[in-house]
Amino acid sequence: MKTCKLAILFSGNGSNMQNLIESLHDKTFTRQKETNTKQEIKLEISLTLCNNPQAYGITRAQNLNIPCKVLNHEDFNSREAFDRAMLELLQNHQIDLCILAGFMRILTPTFTQKIPTINIHPSYLPAHKGMNAIKQSFDSGDGYGGVSVHWVNEELDGGEIILQKKLSIEQSDTLQSFEAKIYTLEHSLYPQAILKALNIESNRTQSL
Ligand code: GRF
Repeated sequence: MKTCKLAILFSGNGSNMQNLIESLHDKTFTRQKETNTKQEIKLEISLTLCNNPQAYGITRAQNLNIPCKVLNHEDFNSREAFDRAMLELLQNHQIDLCILAGFMRILTPTFTQKIPTINIHPSYLPAHKGMNAIKQSFDSGDGYGGVSVHWVNEELDGGEIILQKKLSIEQSDTLQSFEAKIYTLEHSLYPQAILKALNIESNRTQSL
């Protein structure tokens, strides 16, 4: 059986990271291959990586028994040097796919051209790229926000969409209640999107 090794990069709370570990780690799925045959595949979250030594997510990773490396970006002279160090770590662990979950650093081509990377963004892209996307959606007057999962390229929040979903803003919503609904949507959408990106049917065959 093939094993697909994933790494998750985060900077803060780490709720998406925890959810992905609980949903996907050490689970076996069926994958549709290009040749129209099926293949059993095990997903392994081999590593988590954090750029912020104060992040609560580090405790979450430890509680889940997943290795967590802390690489503080402030210890590096340039974005490229930081990206090279992260890339080396991921390559040493033979990571197939990198997943960003609240990772608050812009990645350079040094990184993005070397390893396939997926990100989650709390808006219905291409609307409201960048910071404070939930508040931007809430204040926009559009009547909805959303969640988008996309491939990462050199453009901030700009790569090809894998899966996205709109979320209506109700009359009774406050920014806080709308934010809470966005986080709930993120937690259901992100695992599905990763399976879709890997050509995996979402019905799990077996839990190890
Ligand atoms: C999420 O809203 C995600 O979309 C954004 O950063 C936030 C991370 O939250 N990129 P958490 O650290 O996973 O709780």
